Amino acid sequence: MSAAVTSVDHAQLDRDHVWHPFTQQQAWVEEEPLMIEAGAGSHLLASDGRRYIDGVSSLWCTVHGHGHEGIDAAIAAQLERVAHTTMLGLAHPGAAELAGRLVELTPTGLSRVFYSESGSTAVEIALKMAFQFQQQRGGQHARRTSFVHLRDSYHGDTIGSVSVGGIGLFHATYRPLLFPTHAAEPGDAADLERVLAAHEEEVAAVIVEPLVQGAAGMITHPPGYLRAVRELCDAYGVLLICDEVATGFGRTGTMFACEQEDVAPDLLCLAKGLTGGYLPLAATLATERIYEGFLGAPEEHRTFFHGHTYTGNPLACAAALASLDAFESERTLERLQPKIALLRELLDELERMPEVVEVRGRGLMSGIDLGEHDPALRMGHRVTLEARKRGAIVRPLTDVMILMPPLSISETDLRNLVAILAESIRAACASAYETTAAALTSAELQRVA
Ligand SMILES: Cc1ncc(COP(=O)(O)O)c(C=O)c1O
Repeated sequence: MSAAVTSVDHAQLDRDHVWHPFTQQQAWVEEEPLMIEAGAGSHLLASDGRRYIDGVSSLWCTVHGHGHEGIDAAIAAQLERVAHTTMLGLAHPGAAELAGRLVELTPTGLSRVFYSESGSTAVEIALKMAFQFQQQRGGQHARRTSFVHLRDSYHGDTIGSVSVGGIGLFHATYRPLLFPTHAAEPGDAADLERVLAAHEEEVAAVIVEPLVQGAAGMITHPPGYLRAVRELCDAYGVLLICDEVATGFGRTGTMFACEQEDVAPDLLCLAKGLTGGYLPLAATLATERIYEGFLGAPEEHRTFFHGHTYTGNPLACAAALASLDAFESERTLERLQPKIALLRELLDELERMPEVVEVRGRGLMSGIDLGEHDPALRMGHRVTLEARKRGAIVRPLTDVMILMPPLSISETDLRNLVAILAESIRAACASAYETTAAALTSAELQRVA
């Protein structure tokens, strides 16, 4: 690297020019950004020379760790061949092989794979497919134009996926832009039945995050709920879309969350961990019945008119194939089970802390709820900064601390991560209320004066 490059003040450039996702920039520019320069296993290395445990798998996607030899090599080998070629009018071996592997791995009945690049687009595609499928069935099915989703759900941030989302903080502003939907109470099959009965014959599909609603703060559904959702969809002739963008690829302890209730959806959305967390790739899987609903002569215009420039990018497909290989050769799911048990044990202890209201989650997906605090205290953010001081990267959803380490994390790192989180929660709560107490005292003093 040349001296000119090393002397660049990246932090200043970031403050001056970068607009970060889901970030209030006014607060962001007041802090020193942590610049990540490298990754190794479950650790991230920053420009401050320190090493941090990646407690959130770089936003829920790193599976086998950073710098995985097999995935690195697969991407390098693909790079020797071609970095990108379009799937509009052409095919390539990686996308074909990956589609075959995904069909084999996912619940029975899903036989067709449509690629895109993010969880949001995987959902957007599922919604459009469900809608168009019902339109093309014709007759009274063409009246099936709306969707049912769960309250507090998160399916991405494009306009379609926001329409089926339910997180007020993220979604309320865009209401006027969204298409109308029907919301059901998470985990309550009777409520879903009520919604379906009230809108019988106008619903195209129900969309759910199976077992765990991640962005809602790791809200879990009771056992049997997902199965009940499948049965209700069948009873009301409605398609079921399972969004496994967060839960897929081992996060809940099985390859896919749907397996735990023996549920096969009509449409399945995958992203995040699909490439082991390396590159942007997503897939929407559909049943043969849905796929056949789009067949016809070109002039009939039953085509699925959707596709992006980087759809099915070959480098990303190579990474995904290598990640699936790693699941097999490293027995990732088998070796995950003792870590899940350990995490549960550690979090049981954490839940006894007076600062913690509730711990929720499945597998390695966990949410540590710190309860209600004045939003101005930014409690979740305070904990994040305290954890950073102690060598761990965590990210809150408001005041719910999320832990979702890579599946490859060692037991030692897992113990350290939870210990750091416990200390950070304690420190953040103490400092927040010391400051508040001090502020109150000085205000009171001023009043008295
Ligand atoms: C369940 C679920 N669906 C969709 C998405 C959107 O994925 P992306 O951020 O890749 O667009 C997320 C992201 O967290 C998610 O948790």
